[in-house]
Amino acid sequence: MSPLLFTPLSIGPVEVPNRIAIAPMCQYSAHDGCAEDWHLQHWMNLAMSGAGLVTIEATAVERRARITHGCVGLYDDATERAMKRGLDAARAVALPGTKFAIQLSHAGRKSSSRRPWENGRALEAHEDAWQTVSASAIPFSDGWHTPEALDEAGIERILAAYAETAKRAERLGIEVIELHMTHGYLVHQFLSPISNTRTDKWGGSYENRARFGMEVAKAVKAAVGPHTAVGARITGSDWVEGGLTIDDAVRYASDLKALGLHFACVSSGGLDPKARINVGPGYQVPFASEVKRRSGIVTRAVGLIVTGKQAEEILQAGDADQIALGRAILDNPRWGWHAADELGLDFPRPPQYDRARPKVWPGAALAREA
Ligand SMILES: Cc1cc2nc3c(=O)[nH]c(=O)nc-3n(C[C@H](O)[C@H](O)[C@H](O)COP(=O)(O)O)c2cc1C
Repeated sequence: MSPLLFTPLSIGPVEVPNRIAIAPMCQYSAHDGCAEDWHLQHWMNLAMSGAGLVTIEATAVERRARITHGCVGLYDDATERAMKRGLDAARAVALPGTKFAIQLSHAGRKSSSRRPWENGRALEAHEDAWQTVSASAIPFSDGWHTPEALDEAGIERILAAYAETAKRAERLGIEVIELHMTHGYLVHQFLSPISNTRTDKWGGSYENRARFGMEVAKAVKAAVGPHTAVGARITGSDWVEGGLTIDDAVRYASDLKALGLHFACVSSGGLDPKARINVGPGYQVPFASEVKRRSGIVTRAVGLIVTGKQAEEILQAGDADQIALGRAILDNPRWGWHAADELGLDFPRPPQYDRARPKVWPGAALAREA
């Protein structure tokens, strides 16, 4: 029997050839929103990794939605042209059936900051900082910019930006759109009672706090055609007293499903620096499992999933339909090939590299032992 990890999956209208997805990972290497050569090689590598779905990093829907000056955007013709260059190259070398996804994002109060390797703190005025926005005028933490609470016109403008970016993504031939609704970015800032203290229709009750995310989902669904899959990355827990819990995640995923979204990837944290996260192998899988069982949406698990065997066990247990990998792919961009070896599958390599296939290369066993 073929391992579940290497069986196809339907995500709404899109079929992916296996259950391996590459998680979105910011590279902080763009120039004014435009992808660069770094992305070209990065996406080309990911396209050959054996993952059935390659997700492009958090992509800003407007210029001020970027986290840092190095973040990728898709909000004008220049950013679209730059992404097309890298994507075209990646498609040219992609393994058969590989699909591409993009994560659409607005960083809200966490924008206007430095790259992680420049200490990740808020930009100073002389560093071309910009005014941030959020649900409420509450900074992320001490030393962060105080955001402007969005008014109706501001909210409408951002919803329109999501729709416009989704259309650009579709024009680039991207098959799957993932809405970034977690890690403390703008949609999450509206949903969590910690960052949203509004008293109008965008705050207060669950329905009101969820409204912004639901409107984003509706705007994007309305902007794209029936052949594009749309889903979201959501929060399994804020890991902090008074924050979002798994019950909120189940309800949110169910509401997104009712709007026609096709999948949920269940992550956690990022909203409040006081959060204490219990990190360990597969630490967010229990959240995915609850969301999958109780909402019925196609569900992706992510977080310290590292080996093929571990991924296969999660799928076999019925805890998720798909596995997303982040750091394991940065460490080994041929992860899919190696996972197939581990699970006893003779995974087809590109013909140029076929001579290194374990079935024909005696060195493979030695290399795996090393
Ligand atoms: C370099 C890097 C960049 C990341 N950027 C994003 C991002 O753009 N969007 C997002 O939702 N998560 C982002 N994450 C989180 C990953 O998608 C993933 O959820 C996390 O790393 C846990 O999975 P892992 O243990 O397989 O790495 C990033 C993680 C890393 C390591």
